[in-house]
Amino acid sequence: MTKFLALHSDEASLVLELREGALPIWRHLGARVELGTLPSLASLTAPASFSLDKHVPMSVLPGAELGWFGREMLKLRGESGAVIAFRPAECSAVQEENAILISSRDSGAGIEVQQRFTMLAGGAICASVTVQSVGDAPIILHDPASALFPLCGPWARVISWRGRHNNELNEQAEPMPAQGWLRESRRGISGHGGPPGFYLLQDGATYHQGLVMAAQLCWSGDGALSIAYDDEGFWTARLGQLGDQVLGAGESLKLPDVILALSNRGRNGAMAQMHHAVRNLLRWPEGKMRPRLVHLNSWEACYFDHDEGRILRLARAAKAIGAERFILDDGWFKGRGDDTAALGDWTADPVKYPNGLGPLVESVRAMGLEFGLWVEPEMVNPNSDLCRAHPNWALHEDDQDRPTARNQLVLNMALPEVQDYLFDALNRLLSDHSIAYLKWDQNRDHAPSGGLAQTLGTYALLARLRAAHPSVEIEGCAGGGGRSDAGLAPYIHRFWTSDNVDALSRIDMQRGFLAFLPPEIMGAHIGASPCHATSRAQPLAFRAAIACQGHLGVEMDPETLSEGEQASLAKWIAFYKEWRELLHGGAVILGEGAEVKWHAQGNGHDILLFVIRSAPMSTRRPQPLPLAFAANSKKWQVRLLELAELEGAHGPAQAPIFDALQNGVEFTGSWLAEHGVPLPVQRAESVAIFHMKAVS
Ligand code: GLA
Repeated sequence: MTKFLALHSDEASLVLELREGALPIWRHLGARVELGTLPSLASLTAPASFSLDKHVPMSVLPGAELGWFGREMLKLRGESGAVIAFRPAECSAVQEENAILISSRDSGAGIEVQQRFTMLAGGAICASVTVQSVGDAPIILHDPASALFPLCGPWARVISWRGRHNNELNEQAEPMPAQGWLRESRRGISGHGGPPGFYLLQDGATYHQGLVMAAQLCWSGDGALSIAYDDEGFWTARLGQLGDQVLGAGESLKLPDVILALSNRGRNGAMAQMHHAVRNLLRWPEGKMRPRLVHLNSWEACYFDHDEGRILRLARAAKAIGAERFILDDGWFKGRGDDTAALGDWTADPVKYPNGLGPLVESVRAMGLEFGLWVEPEMVNPNSDLCRAHPNWALHEDDQDRPTARNQLVLNMALPEVQDYLFDALNRLLSDHSIAYLKWDQNRDHAPSGGLAQTLGTYALLARLRAAHPSVEIEGCAGGGGRSDAGLAPYIHRFWTSDNVDALSRIDMQRGFLAFLPPEIMGAHIGASPCHATSRAQPLAFRAAIACQGHLGVEMDPETLSEGEQASLAKWIAFYKEWRELLHGGAVILGEGAEVKWHAQGNGHDILLFVIRSAPMSTRRPQPLPLAFAANSKKWQVRLLELAELEGAHGPAQAPIFDALQNGVEFTGSWLAEHGVPLPVQRAESVAIFHMKAVS
């Protein structure tokens, strides 16, 4: 009798067929199925012309059997470069309650591979691979994949994101490829297109319904995601690193995990699983997320132009509007007057900060603010003491030019001496001062490439620093959102989504971020108007309402605002503090209505709903907005908390219900789900924020 191994969630199933002495083969990865008396794959496979007489089905380690013609998961070479065929003769598979463990060994090749599929709480599946050398010679792994699996079922579209500095995370929708689809990052970081991942949608799938698969490789360096249409008639997906890794004799290597979220509740269902999985990777100080403190970050307030007096004034202004953590951005360290010098020299600039950082940190703390500091450890300017002392610590090729970007070079993070230098410098800063937070930047592509070892070196430094200073929170940044991914999740507590804080740009960018990462780690700041990145001017309330969807901060000098605007900024910060518990840690539900995008955050029965209108209405009256999630409860109390738009302008007349909605109006769940919540008349660039509480 054919035996199967299976993992089931409420929404999805992974089914493998067991084979005696061979690797298990894929049977299903998709919507939940019951196995019943499932026939074997062999019994379902007809002989096909121009095919091998003995069919080679897709195993969990494609390429491990002679006769598999698709991409392989692992390509192995010896030191000489000769290909080593991995043909495991010993294979075993074990079913646990929530996991399947597969082990395969080719003693001749000197390799053993352990694979694990785990059904995570929250419904996502984690695919893990560890490669172990059991021979006596080094082996090179070339572009190793962490997952390569069949796409069972009628998938219709691939959704992915691409971007650049100041315009991250632009969503792209493409039909399933007739040949192949590829998304690579080859610049040393995961890139401004956001986390290395994609969404697949079956025909008719929406935010709210239909089968959707979301996949993310937990990796922050070079990688490749591909989908190929196999001649057999199905698509395969592959997620892996790009580059070589050397496995010394007797060593073992864990490849980055892949998170697979499969939901029949549309994109929102897959996103919820993804958030759950990433939240499990986060390591909060003392094991628990504190309310996300409101930041004021000095960058756009004063760029490089600051000293102790200037920063103390800014910190006082930050405190006055209700900020809780002050972050001193770039420009504080020795010789850093602009972006041409000093990266690598991590001591306070003696001209700007003659007393060092100590008195500044203490004065800021005495105001009741936490102190955070910007660093860019992986980088060095040629014009720095560090580079003059150790020119070869930077990534370089002998006898070649060293291409700079933003006037800087990349340190070789694989060198132990670089690791030690950076650890000592950062450790000293954190040990000598009460610094609660680091903004860890990374501002250029890597040329030459440091390979996979570069990213692993960064992880190792972060891990060492976190172990030495477990209470310090870290923000990941790379020219805005150039390196935001689940690979960094175990080390960081926030990503800087983009240097573009234009609220219009942020609407879709933040939706892209949320496709893979949860809102409490999405840095979202209220910036100046006009916005420095786009020159567009937007009402303060609109900027604030959009920023409230993530981890809130302020990216400007409040003293440049009128008293009225300062009061309004303070009011929005107070609003965020009142609602942040609901905004963070719960579910996010995204949707679209007629000329609006909406965004709900909360715990399922207690929800903040943001209805965003970016362009002027093309109709005279707004139509109600149906909210499928409202069907979960019989009755809801709905309150309009804010209509975030230009203050004091000639506002349009509102329907009488909006007086009552200030205090709350009851609607049935079915009414809200099928007919919709009434919307106020909204001008362009406005957000209506509702609170919805289930009352039965
Ligand atoms: C990058 C970051 C900004 C800021 C600057 C400082 O561009 O994304 O937020 O920290 O560097 O140089």
